[in-house]
Amino acid sequence: MSTNGPVRPNTRKLLIRTWGCQMNVYDSGRMADILAPLGYAPTESAEEADMVILNTCHIREKASEKVFSDLGRLRLTKNERQAEGKDTIIAVAGCVAQAEGAEITARAPWVDIVLGPQTYHRLPEMVARASRAAGAVIETDFPAEDKFDHLPEARGNGGPVAFLTIQEGCDKFCSFCVVPYTRGAEFSRPAAAIIAEARQLAANGAREIALLGQNVNAWAGEAPRTVSGESPGGNTHGNTWRLARLLRELAEIPGVARLRYTTSHPRDMDDDLIAAHGEIPSLMPYLHLPVQSGSDRVLAAMNRGHKADLYLRLADRLREARPDIALTSDFIVGHPGETAKEFEDTMRLVERVGFAGAYSFKYSARPGTPAAGQPFPVPEAEKDTRLQALQALLRQQQDDFNRACVGRVVDVLVTGTGRHPGQVAGRSPWLQPVHAAGAAPVGAVVPMQLRATHPNSLSATMVLPEESAAA
Ligand code: SAH
Ligand code: SF4
Ligand code: F3S
Repeated sequence: MSTNGPVRPNTRKLLIRTWGCQMNVYDSGRMADILAPLGYAPTESAEEADMVILNTCHIREKASEKVFSDLGRLRLTKNERQAEGKDTIIAVAGCVAQAEGAEITARAPWVDIVLGPQTYHRLPEMVARASRAAGAVIETDFPAEDKFDHLPEARGNGGPVAFLTIQEGCDKFCSFCVVPYTRGAEFSRPAAAIIAEARQLAANGAREIALLGQNVNAWAGEAPRTVSGESPGGNTHGNTWRLARLLRELAEIPGVARLRYTTSHPRDMDDDLIAAHGEIPSLMPYLHLPVQSGSDRVLAAMNRGHKADLYLRLADRLREARPDIALTSDFIVGHPGETAKEFEDTMRLVERVGFAGAYSFKYSARPGTPAAGQPFPVPEAEKDTRLQALQALLRQQQDDFNRACVGRVVDVLVTGTGRHPGQVAGRSPWLQPVHAAGAAPVGAVVPMQLRATHPNSLSATMVLPEESAAA
């Protein structure tokens, strides 16, 4: 727990812009938590902000370059504010900061703070130093201390859906990926800290908790000393719990109606975790399990550590455990050396599995990663053609999945009001946005019959209690 001194009233404004994965979204929330006691209240406006944090993503070139265009605009805002006698602290956080700290301060000397994903618990101290000194404060080491021990209690955003980071970093070193370099080695938070944070989130109104990690199913955390009077069963190794055990524990927390976890690696889907999908009712029937490619040769070149067949078997076993489970994935087309035939293997895998949704990307060479130095780059035009073909197939599968849901009665977690008056909006067990006429409190889980598909959502009608009793 951090000691930030007395809480000051909201005297300053903070703008945080977030790119990248859900872990960055979580980190942005934690940065807001840690700056709140210093008097920083959130704003959406750069003109109004006394401090701006860009929480950045380095995963593909496009994502990285956005930071520099944003910094160009912020320089003008900072100058305009200065002319009015107002100071502005500009901070760059996240994975671009970690990877390119020195380059950022060279290209954008108006940046005051550069901080990596493992150092943001020290933000109050950095802000104080930045206010005192000229020149940028740079903190991009991987400190031995656990930042989670130094953060204030997670408050969540008070909404019904909350993120909870349980694992960080990656030791897998896929050929194309910057994450092991920007986030560091794999680290699992102890179970007791996670359970305490989940209880707190539930007390603040969270009904659905998504556990996060770059390799969330590689989580192997210290077991709690005592667990609600029961002896640890399942997949427990001595003093260490695996993810299935943790999910079983979190499912017992009053108020937690839904659990998810993301992102998983096929190699870490252990038997107990697959079984958990059939055994824990609040574990949602939805799994994001990236495969990247359907070609064994490309998977080996990517250093993924498994073959296409392992993925197919996992899909079958997950569906045996939980027949209504929806699978989603990530794909990269045009990894160096990928042939047209090997790309076709990816298309065959997609046809065989049937995905409810997916992210697909053109391979983007990232500085310092092994693939960036590999021969036989795939020409850009060829990558475009492959991506279009893959995305057309994936879109078709997603449409098929959504259409197959029409007519079903499903539990919808209400997250707010719809776009039109008299509507509620929410999400299905498969993360589809749903809207329906009627009223229900935010956080309620309401049975609804799905009626029709729309470009980005499904419409539904609420099922009255007597109808659901009869169903
Ligand atoms: N830990 C997750 C992925 C994290 S990165 C996993 O192991 O699958 C999110 C996605 O970005 C990856 O799944 C991959 O599809 C994509 N990605 C990562 N590096 C990339 C690169 N250099 N070019 C294109 N896409 C990339
Ligand atoms: Fe990147 Fe591979 Fe680690 Fe996923 S498993 S974060 S793709 S290195
Ligand atoms: Fe991007 Fe870093 Fe997440 S590179 S995807 S923000 S771990």
